[in-house]
Formats: sequence, C-alpha cells, structure tokens
Amino acid sequence: CSQEGLPCPSDSSELPVSPQVLACLQQFKVTETQLRQIQASLLCSMEHALGGQASPASSVRMLPTYVGSTPHGTEQGDFVVLELGATGASLRVLWVTLVGNEGHRMEPWSQEFVIPPEVMLGPGQQLFDFAAHCLSEFLDAIPMDKKGLQLGFSFSFPCHQTGLDRVRQSGHGDSGWKVCSPMKAIGGLIQVFCPQSTLISWTKGFRCSGVEGHDVVQLLRDAIKRQGAYSIDVVAVVNDTVGTMMGCEPGFGPCEVGLVVDTGTNACYMEEARHVAVLDEDRGRVCVSVEWGSFSDDGVLGPVLTTFDHALDQESLNPGAQRFEKMIGGLYLGELVRLVLAHLAQQGVLFDGCTSSALLTQGSILLEHVAEMEDTLCPSSPLAGAARVHAILQDLGLSVGASDAKLVQYVCAAVLTRAARLCAAALAAVLSRLRHSRELQMLQIAVATGGRVFERHPSFLSILQETVMLLAPECDVSFIPSVDGGGRGVAMVTAVAARLAAHRHL
Ligand code: GLC
Repeated sequence: CSQEGLPCPSDSSELPVSPQVLACLQQFKVTETQLRQIQASLLCSMEHALGGQASPASSVRMLPTYVGSTPHGTEQGDFVVLELGATGASLRVLWVTLVGNEGHRMEPWSQEFVIPPEVMLGPGQQLFDFAAHCLSEFLDAIPMDKKGLQLGFSFSFPCHQTGLDRVRQSGHGDSGWKVCSPMKAIGGLIQVFCPQSTLISWTKGFRCSGVEGHDVVQLLRDAIKRQGAYSIDVVAVVNDTVGTMMGCEPGFGPCEVGLVVDTGTNACYMEEARHVAVLDEDRGRVCVSVEWGSFSDDGVLGPVLTTFDHALDQESLNPGAQRFEKMIGGLYLGELVRLVLAHLAQQGVLFDGCTSSALLTQGSILLEHVAEMEDTLCPSSPLAGAARVHAILQDLGLSVGASDAKLVQYVCAAVLTRAARLCAAALAAVLSRLRHSRELQMLQIAVATGGRVFERHPSFLSILQETVMLLAPECDVSFIPSVDGGGRGVAMVTAVAARLAAHRHL
C-alpha cells in the first residue's frame, strides 16, 4: 500500500474487506508518479499564464493582486473587515485593531452570519444588500467609535484587479472616480493598490446573477449607500489567500506564500514583477493569486478522477469547471464520501444493503462529519470514536452494522488523504516556481496556512508536509497557521491602502 514511498493512512490490510470496498478505496490512491506529473503540468500552466498567453479557462489564472510586499508590522489603526466566500455559506465581519510593532495584539471583535441559500443563488444586489445589512448589524452591536470607518473586503473568488490606481476627485462624491497612472514604491510597502475588482466567475456554491464581469467593490459601495446606516469607505479588496499570507505573525521571517484549504482551495505567492507580463514592471515583487482550483489538465487529472468525481461534477452548479478544487475543497469532500457510501450501500456491502433518504440527498454529509469520523481512526479513544461514527451515521437514518463504522472511516481517510496529496503537488509546483525564479539552489520559505480543512483535520497538514518534502526536497518549508482566519492580514492591506489614499489627498 505505501507505494512509491507515499504515506498511506487508508491502509485497509486489517479489514475483512470485500472486493467492492477495495476497488473503491483503490480509486482514491494517487501514486508518486501521478503527483509529479500534476506538479509539472501545474507549473507549466502557471508559467504559461504568467507569460500572458491566452489560457483556456481550465488552466490556472495567475491573477496579480497589486500587493507589492509582505507587511513590515508597523501598520496601525482600526479597520472593519468583511469576508465573503471563504467559509461557504457564511459571511464574517470583524473589527481589527492593529497596534504596530509596539504593544499587544488585540483580539478582534467578530460576528458570523449565515447566508440563506436563496441569497447565494439569487440576484447579486440581494447578496450585497445582505452584506451591507450584516455590516450595520455588527457595527450597531459593538462599543466603538464609528466615525471615518475604513473597510477591507475579503472576496474569495477569482477576480481581475485592474492595474490602475483610482483617485477620488473632490466634489464628485462616490461615483466620481478618476483613473490615474499606477503609483510606485510609496512607503516601500505596496506599489500599486486598486480598490477595484471584477469577478471572473463564481465558484463554490455561489451563483448570483449580475455580478460576473462587474466590479464587486462598487456593488458593495452601492449596497452600503442604499442601506444608509453608516458611512464606510471600502479601501481595499483582497483574496483570502492574500489575507492569510499578509496576516502571518512577524517573527517567522518573511512569509511569501498563502495557502487556503477551506470550502475551496487556492494559494498566492510573491512573484518577481518582471515575470508578470500584464504588469509591464521591471522591478520588485508582486503577490499573485494562482487560482489553482480551475486547473484541469485532462492528461494528468484524467487518470486520477474517479467515477465519484465525475458524478459530483455533474450534479454541481458549475459542471466542467474547477475540477481540481472539487477534489480538495471542503465543500466537496463530504459529498465525495456520501457518493462512495451510497454506492457501497447499493452494492450491498455497507449498512446491510440499505440506503436512507438522507444518504441519497446531495450535501447531507459535511466536511465536519468527515473530519470527525476520520479523526477517530486515531487510537487514543477508540470507543468514543466508534460511538461518534455510529451517531453520525444513525443521524443519516442508516442502520449501522458491526464492521460498517470502520469501513466508513477508511472511506473518509481515503478521500482526505487524496485531497492532501493533490494539494501538496500544487504547493510543490508553486515552491519550484519560486525557487527557479529566484535562482536558488535551496529555497527556505514560510507558508501561511488557513481554512477549515487545516483546522478541523490535523492530519491533513502532516500528509501535506510529508508529500511536499517528497516532491520538493530542495525546499525547506515552515507552515504557519494563519491568525484570525486571515482577518488581520486583510486589515494590514487595508491599513496600507488607507495610508496611500491619505497621501493622495495631501
Ligand atoms: C476558490 C476561489 C479562490 C479562493 C479559494 C479559497 O478557489 O476561486 O479565489 O481563494 O476558493 O477560498
């Protein structure tokens, strides 16, 4: 089972397993050779997109974010952060106080709101009105001075940020924005910042009409104005991977990669600006959001995709798109497990051959369930573990036989292990890119990690680490968990953007 030097927690050798179960588990194995092929193809797709050649929608996107340097730790002030899209059907609002190098870090105030399903799939205006409503409900409840509010918008979907700085003209109000030429090297922190971001396409269970192809910052501004309760200046927009990277605790050295595995998955890293064709810059570095979720080279992914991946893709909101993300993101892991369990029950090898309406319902098994069930494979509390698996399965209306719980755990482990290995192949591609573009023999780097897959499933990180060491042995990587789920990093970017805006008014 530990083929080609890979770790294999889904070892099923002790089980009295039927050929049907073995065949299912086997489908989720990814060999070292396959991982290396994925790593190489992803790297090729990254370089292609950096070079500005027209890329098919199925390749990575390599979107420049206009963040030109990692934080210095001197940023200060109070900021409101609005996070949309990172944690699936919820939206988070935070109040973050940055105190610079001096003083203690203060815990942010934060509140999470559940986005109703009809809002996730309805008109765009309804979604942004909902966000503006949550903002004002949060602000109503906290005892802070709410004058001159500055907001950082963490919007975790693929967006084009135009390479232009925009400056407000006096007397023109919010709609009077003038396009100016890019600003360079102000304060040495961020070279160009643009509070404008056009959504390319929805991912991860969102499909609101009238947003793709539009500036999401403007849509948020309009909604805040319609709501009318507070005057809030939206000064920055960032991807969650950038927030994760920028919020990395100083003290670990510069952190130049942000890796998120939450509902979806993606990474950003600091690229040499001269290599980013669309920027036309010859100095410095720029943060690029890889958007590896859309990677889908049939040649290398084809052999890895299972019948369950195909079924999941077909029943999703965006068939044919985000194929790589659909094997790794937390939104999909539970669904993959559900499809496997339903298949095994229908084959008569699980639950006495019986299904339940919950088991046959899309979305009934969540990431939380998978993580909880798989975790209990750990022998520290085997009895409590088995009882927990039974409880989860019984909640799904299933009658659980003596050997069922163990088999279900193995299915969860197989799905999660594959996700961690594929994610490692993608991260190894980014690390190879960094090492080559900096012409280094050995790359020493800190990677900030964020997202519920890391938080709820500790062995995801260990499998990821082990596999990265195998695929990129010339990279010495420290993995640093993100602070405040990336909220602090968004506040950092907002602080610098606000300072740039203040400079412009002088
Ligand atoms: C999806 C989004 C991407 C985001 C990632 C993690 O892949 O397209 O922008 O960073 O999910 O939330």
